[in-house]
Amino acid sequence: MLVSISLLGFGNVGRGVARVLLEKKNFFKRKYGIEFKVVSISDSTATIWDEGGIDLKEALMVKENFGALKYWGSDYEIYHLSPIEVAEEVESDVFIDVTTANPEAYKWHMEAFRQGRHVVTSNKPPLVFYYTQLAQEAAMRGVNYRFEATVMAGTPIITLLQESLKGDEVISIEGIFNGTTTFILSEMEKGLTFEEALKKAQSLGIAEANPDVDIKGFDAAYKATILHDVAFEPISFKKVKIRGIDEIKPENIANAQKNDNVIRLIAKIERKNVIVEPKKVSKNSILAVYGTSNVAVIRSDLAGEIILKGSGAGVKETASAVVSDIIKAVKKE
Ligand SMILES: NC(=O)c1ccc[n+]([C@@H]2O[C@H](COP(=O)([O-])OP(=O)(O)OC[C@H]3O[C@@H](n4cnc5c(N)ncnc54)[C@H](OP(=O)(O)O)[C@@H]3O)[C@@H](O)[C@H]2O)c1
Repeated sequence: MLVSISLLGFGNVGRGVARVLLEKKNFFKRKYGIEFKVVSISDSTATIWDEGGIDLKEALMVKENFGALKYWGSDYEIYHLSPIEVAEEVESDVFIDVTTANPEAYKWHMEAFRQGRHVVTSNKPPLVFYYTQLAQEAAMRGVNYRFEATVMAGTPIITLLQESLKGDEVISIEGIFNGTTTFILSEMEKGLTFEEALKKAQSLGIAEANPDVDIKGFDAAYKATILHDVAFEPISFKKVKIRGIDEIKPENIANAQKNDNVIRLIAKIERKNVIVEPKKVSKNSILAVYGTSNVAVIRSDLAGEIILKGSGAGVKETASAVVSDIIKAVKKE
């Protein structure tokens, strides 16, 4: 089976996906009988589009050496299309959106569905704010909408909820879905102030220059909202109660440590109730994670308690989820 792909976003995740498609080409052919042909690649500066397929090795070389697709030389035509034009005009089986988080992207996904394309994304806001419309449109067009990478990167919590626990009713999900806040809190446990820990996170590229989405709890709340939508039914983001870690003081950390506890940004998801807040948890608890580890404790009526732990970020890990989603979409699993 030949599968054509339109790849929107050529940053860490986009390049990670391209690298997997390139390096594991023989594995995909052998295991699934699938060959991938990437017919367009876009970053914020340009779209490279060739129905015959783009040389991924060269694309990676251009982006990594020159920084932008607009600098590509003469091999391919360079287009200046908006993402919605890419979704509409580039003939592909799968439209992949791995661009910077942006609620507007919901329009691109809708357009791709209208054109009969499957959509695979790691971009959270469209799902957080337009889940119902997107899911309905995909169902109406008979295409797949897949977004495993939006929560816990390569750790397959969405697939587990959507496809494994078919006969179960979820009671609750409790977990840690943001590695940046875990890093900052862990550094504070070693004696740093919040500001010092945040600076360290920024210097290591763990926190963004504008860290608010992470430290104020929005990123974890986005993921918790997506999990609520999948496990129960769509919930308005306005109903999610969010408290970040920006007001945590060294004395809060010290007090927790005295009783063998640590503070972590915990998301608790129950039907119609989503809360994200810093909470004390025992150092020996499964919720006391470190580094970029994410963890989820899923409780359901039949399966009981399931614990899922894995990396919540990373290029390879996120590419794992995106590539799995592409394969599931085209195999209509
Ligand atoms: N990194 C992770 O571990 C991880 C894990 C899970 C989910 N995610 C999500 O995955 C997405 C991508 O993350 P990332 O780390 O790859 O980010 P990134 O390195 O900043 O890459 C974002 C890419 O999107 C492109 N882009 C932005 N706006 C665009 C537009 N309007 N049209 C076309 N391209 C556009 C950027 O273009 P330029 O290259 O020209 O700037 C860049 O190539 C984000 O939504 C993120 O939240 C990331």
